[in-house]
Amino acid sequence: MVRIALLGAGRIGAMHAANIAASKRATLRCVYDVHLAAAQKVAKTHGAKVAPSVEAALADADVDAVLIASSTDTHVDLITASAKAGKAILCEKPIDLSIDRVEQCRRDIEGTGVPIQLGFNRRYDASHRGVREAVARGEIGNLQQLIITSRDPGLAPMDYMKVSGGIFRDMTIHDFDLARFILGEDPVEVFAAGSVMIEPALAEIGDVDTAMVVMKAPSGALVHINNSRLAVYGYDQRVEAFGSKGMVQSENLRSSSLRRWTAHATDAQEPLLHFFIQRYAQAYLDELNEFFDVVADGKEPSVGFEDGRKALILADAAWESLRSGESVEVSYD
Ligand SMILES: NC(=O)c1ccc[n+]([C@@H]2O[C@H](COP(=O)([O-])OP(=O)(O)OC[C@H]3O[C@@H](n4cnc5c(N)ncnc54)[C@H](O)[C@@H]3O)[C@@H](O)[C@H]2O)c1
Repeated sequence: MVRIALLGAGRIGAMHAANIAASKRATLRCVYDVHLAAAQKVAKTHGAKVAPSVEAALADADVDAVLIASSTDTHVDLITASAKAGKAILCEKPIDLSIDRVEQCRRDIEGTGVPIQLGFNRRYDASHRGVREAVARGEIGNLQQLIITSRDPGLAPMDYMKVSGGIFRDMTIHDFDLARFILGEDPVEVFAAGSVMIEPALAEIGDVDTAMVVMKAPSGALVHINNSRLAVYGYDQRVEAFGSKGMVQSENLRSSSLRRWTAHATDAQEPLLHFFIQRYAQAYLDELNEFFDVVADGKEPSVGFEDGRKALILADAAWESLRSGESVEVSYD
């Protein structure tokens, strides 16, 4: 049994806690949150202890691993403390909003030898992973174009938007990682365009709600990511890879496979699955299962700190491009 300390018991932390508690391979040993009531609620639901502090959770010899699901600005400190305490880490994305802090963290944890898995859950989605596998097997020949559509079903509150780091670091970061995963190589050029089409208040904080990013990989393959903060029909998550021998697509999941063809309607009538917790439910479970393999069997995480660092570098390049109107060459050094 993998014994886990959960650090951060908000929206995604509560979901992970439920998944850990439901697993036969792990137990939720303790929960810590700066907001005590949040920790108490999650701990009580799953019969875990409330840790009085991060230090107490990390000093607990009955804790094998930590799951960091606290606010983004706390990840670096918690990764560093957990790595120094020798606990395996599953940390939610992004590592941080500042690449300087990420680089400092990388130096601080060097040599600890602690495995770090990063919560890029979309890599664990069976359909998106199927696209990666088809590309890697050469099924579509040379990959020429990768198109990722990622549109949210609703705007997050403005208080969240103000500290989110902007659309590229908060939202597109998943797509930057998915692009690297499917390409199997690191983009070297980024061009981004963005507009405020949905929430005018975003202009006041220098953010956008509608964005398109074009990237070029060393092989010449082109990537197009398109994001919107508001799709009225639901959470729109699609991937298309096009190559010299064909095309492979990962479509939206539907709650039913029923389709209608009548004089008035030609497709399913139900809305798309609501948001990430529903759409990627199985992916979060598979992500956690890999983490159990990492902790219990010494498996290397398939997505780790370096992937988080590179996704943030791409997000920063997208901001630079948006501001300058020029395409930006990317270096990962
Ligand atoms: N992978 C995904 O699909 C996904 C989805 C949503 C959120 N996230 C990420 O998960 C993280 C949490 O997001 P959320 O939506 O659950 O936010 P949230 O605000 O609902 O929860 C964050 C929790 O962290 C707690 N917290 C703050 N500082 C802390 C500290 N120092 N130690 C312990 N707890 C602390 C807060 O009190 C709060 O309960 C963010 O980094 C976010 O980017 C990832």
